[in-house]
Amino acid sequence: MRWLPLLLLLLGCDPAIPDGNPAPASCGDVADGEQAYFESDVQPILETYCAWCHWSDKEGEDRHAAPVAVNFDDYDYLKPNTFLTWARMKDGTMPPMGRMPSTEEYRTVLDFLSCLDAVREAELADDDDSSS
Ligand code: HEC
Repeated sequence: MRWLPLLLLLLGCDPAIPDGNPAPASCGDVADGEQAYFESDVQPILETYCAWCHWSDKEGEDRHAAPVAVNFDDYDYLKPNTFLTWARMKDGTMPPMGRMPSTEEYRTVLDFLSCLDAVREAELADDDDSSS
């Protein structure tokens, strides 16, 4: 059974999901052009790992039971659902199966989602101040 440790190593090779959140001060890219950054850096990762089930062109059985409204080619879905999306990736329940993102890819997506939340909270606070 000398091969057993090797087999366990191969089975256990899911990448680590990174800890911690970015400092709000490092969120510049997101604040300066959140949708452009999303499209260039984040969406390609979601397309690789989530489009299999969560994409607008998927219908019926091809969605593998993913909720009809949850599509990551739809920024209007993602924007109000950053925390939910962050939480499901962070706890490792999404993607539920198949190819998993690398630690680096998790980092890119999770940081973007937490930054988007931080930017939105700051905007809401500004709105309160200006009482408009
Ligand atoms: C194999 C199909 C499949 C893949 C791939 C997949 N999902 Fe899902 N997703 C589902 C299903 C089925 C549900 C509904 C059941 C559940 O919530 O666990 C779901 C639910 C969700 C929800 C919760 C939506 C809600 O309103 O409750 C989020 C957020 C989500 N997925 C994000 C992702 C992200 C981000 C990825 C890629 C990194 C991904 N999923 C990849 C099948 C998939």
